Amino acid sequence: MTGHAPTETEKWRTVRFDVLERIEEMPSLSRVVTEFLALARRDVYSARDFEAVLSKDQALVARLLKLANSGIYGRSRTVRTIPEAVVLIGLEHLKKVVYAVSAAGLIRHALRHYGYHPDQGFWLHGLAVAQAARVVAEASRACPLSPEEAFVAGLLHDVGKLVIDEFLDLPAGSRATLDQERDAVGLDHAELAEYILRQWNLPEAITASVRWHHDHTAGGDWALGAASLHLGEVICRHWRVGYVRPIDLGEDVPREDCAGVMELLGIPDAAWGQVIWDIRQRLVTLEDTYAGA
Ligand SMILES: [Fe+2]
Ligand SMILES: [Fe+2]
Repeated sequence: MTGHAPTETEKWRTVRFDVLERIEEMPSLSRVVTEFLALARRDVYSARDFEAVLSKDQALVARLLKLANSGIYGRSRTVRTIPEAVVLIGLEHLKKVVYAVSAAGLIRHALRHYGYHPDQGFWLHGLAVAQAARVVAEASRACPLSPEEAFVAGLLHDVGKLVIDEFLDLPAGSRATLDQERDAVGLDHAELAEYILRQWNLPEAITASVRWHHDHTAGGDWALGAASLHLGEVICRHWRVGYVRPIDLGEDVPREDCAGVMELLGIPDAAWGQVIWDIRQRLVTLEDTYAGA
């Protein structure tokens, strides 16, 4: 017994070698994501800049056009090129689809130990937290994440579960706790996610916010980024998005449950109704819009 809480470095010594190997084997996130995030940080950018970045990943373009033509956008004509898709779907929405499609290949898996609905539950949870965190980042005066970064952080916040799920020795269908994760592999899913996102070269704002999403008060400079993910998660949990299907957004979300983190993020009480309304608007079509990503 050392008698003190393990430091970050000491924690890594407890990680099993086969877990590290599994992380190393994970395919990389498309570079398009990091380039888009950089683009979105600029004051001015055009649909043409967007197209130039996108054209570097033709497989992504193909999947994007397939989704644009899947009928969910109700277009009567076929979308054949990215500029057409920008016109028909809109640049802001298309960017979210690009992030979702890029992440889908990596995280759209069924997990056995987290209680998600077997039909895309884990994926829908990530998408829902992405949408919610984006709305929170837009509403917050203090959140260090741009709305785009909040969306990507939300999509990827539980990526560590993908690795840990394989190493858990629990009855199928049980919901693994952070302690059970540490017992199984030496780290919890937020700590593992940090490692994975660093490999993918995502901005520090995203990586650090994901790292602290279960313990935002310990997040230092990025505490409020982590808090926006936490708030998004608390809101989505009320509707059990990802755990039951279809999604039922009928239940009210009590403001009292979120008052502390709202204050931290500088979101006035008066804005609560609007925040919930905006998130509901984005979740109402979630299953149809992205499930085929
Ligand atoms: Fe989560
Ligand atoms: Fe989590």
